[in-house]
Amino acid sequence: MKPDYTRLAFGPPPADRPYVLLNMVTSIDGKAVVEGSEKGLGSKTDQRLMRELRTNADVILNGAGTLRASGTSPRLGGDAALEQLRLEAGKPRCPTAAVISRSGNLPLDATFFRARDFDAMVYLSEAATAEARRAIIAAGRPVVGVPAEHEVQVALAHMRLEMGADVLLCEGGPDLNGQLFAIDAVDEFFLTLGPVVVSGRDSKTPVEGDSPFARDTLPRFSLVSCVANDETSEVYLRYRRAREG
Ligand SMILES: NC(=O)c1ccc[n+]([C@@H]2O[C@H](COP(=O)([O-])OP(=O)(O)OC[C@H]3O[C@@H](n4cnc5c(N)ncnc54)[C@H](OP(=O)(O)O)[C@@H]3O)[C@@H](O)[C@H]2O)c1
Repeated sequence: MKPDYTRLAFGPPPADRPYVLLNMVTSIDGKAVVEGSEKGLGSKTDQRLMRELRTNADVILNGAGTLRASGTSPRLGGDAALEQLRLEAGKPRCPTAAVISRSGNLPLDATFFRARDFDAMVYLSEAATAEARRAIIAAGRPVVGVPAEHEVQVALAHMRLEMGADVLLCEGGPDLNGQLFAIDAVDEFFLTLGPVVVSGRDSKTPVEGDSPFARDTLPRFSLVSCVANDETSEVYLRYRRAREG
């Protein structure tokens, strides 16, 4: 059994950022990476759910580490029915892909840069060199400069205010996720538990970085749905941020 993530209802986006969904897959011991990427953690059903979630999004965001490790794309896997859902909702066939980077050290021969069947853009910290910026622009994707130390907030504001994005789907990785939680910008967390154990002291969990939280300031989430799949032994969790007031 699997949930249906194609036509989800969300609350309204705040004024200064889109409504933010986060989607990750982990092992049952809570690890998000095996042998350098997420490959092997999720089944084909999990990948299907990722594409269903994309159907709802205006922008798909990744940290540059994920682009370097796994490549990223906002495609719906050539699924005409999913694309049709988007078109009926007045959205383009594919969400816009976005990557955020401080260094500007990006794989310029990756699909993200070479493909022309989807729009893509790079949020580049002003800490990056002019040379890195020029190389990215020459690779054919627009660059939006974002001030050092406030890159994520400014990128989210750009999506909402300049692009009119209502829904952002962040597909990791752990470093970027940690910053989104730190500024309380995750509205929903979609988590697939895969039936494997990775272990390893240095294996990343879905959310990394310095924690700004104490026991009484932990961000709390309410369970929206929980579906167990007897065939894959995966569990698909959907949580929504429970904000006070
Ligand atoms: N299990 C899953 O569902 C899943 C999902 C996604 C990724 N992953 C895995 O996660 C691993 C990558 O982890 P990660 O934590 O390194 O990935 P990440 O969050 O994708 O990338 C980190 C990089 O993003 C950029 N970045 C982050 N915060 C920024 C900011 N405030 N301003 C500007 N740039 C910023 C920096 O890029 P620069 O270094 O270019 O400055 C930083 O090094 C990979 O192995 C990938 O396969 C797993």
